[in-house]
Amino acid sequence: MKFDDVVYKRRSVRAYDANQKVTKEQILELVKCAQQAPSWKNSQTARYYAIFNPEKLIEVRQCLAPQNQIVTKDVNVLLVTTFVKNRSGFTREGNPENELGNGWGCYDLGLQNALLCLKATEMGLDTVILGLRDGDALRKTLDISETEEIGAVIAVGYRSVSDVPAPKRKETEEILTYIG
Ligand SMILES: Cc1cc2nc3c(=O)[nH]c(=O)nc-3n(C[C@H](O)[C@H](O)[C@H](O)COP(=O)(O)O)c2cc1C
Repeated sequence: MKFDDVVYKRRSVRAYDANQKVTKEQILELVKCAQQAPSWKNSQTARYYAIFNPEKLIEVRQCLAPQNQIVTKDVNVLLVTTFVKNRSGFTREGNPENELGNGWGCYDLGLQNALLCLKATEMGLDTVILGLRDGDALRKTLDISETEEIGAVIAVGYRSVSDVPAPKRKETEEILTYIG
């Protein structure tokens, strides 16, 4: 698939087919591709927890906002994404390089997650990034170390709906300023 086709085809999908399962091999392929994203000094602080275990999946879904629990009711895997704190954007001594601090770790994780979602589209899979989640509850449920900051949960699966309309984008002129 051409790059633009992948980019324009990707949508946040909120209805999944319970009969079509995602495999561990597919998740490995997604994360492998996501790892090709750039990161601060190649610090590679993004981490992924792929929840396949049915009981754990229920527990993780309970950490999501009510509307996101409905969205994810038919997926067989959820990815909980995190980044190791105080590395990306920090000196070797552990001091922030600038005012963004751990914002850079979050930036790197977002870059990786964007690649992951695009790769999923190329593979015929669908995704939705879920930011409405309870990070403390996820940490407890999955026993995630305090050295990691918890980012989005990503649902991966096959859509059960044929048409997912593309939400409108702003006019590019509205977000682009030429200086010179
Ligand atoms: C950081 C982030 C958090 C998001 N959180 C949610 C969420 O909690 N629930 C949801 O249904 N969609 C969520 N979305 C999906 C956005 O609503 C979606 O990307 C946007 O409406 C544009 O639609 P598109 O992805 O189909 O282009 C999130 C997206 C991002 C990037």
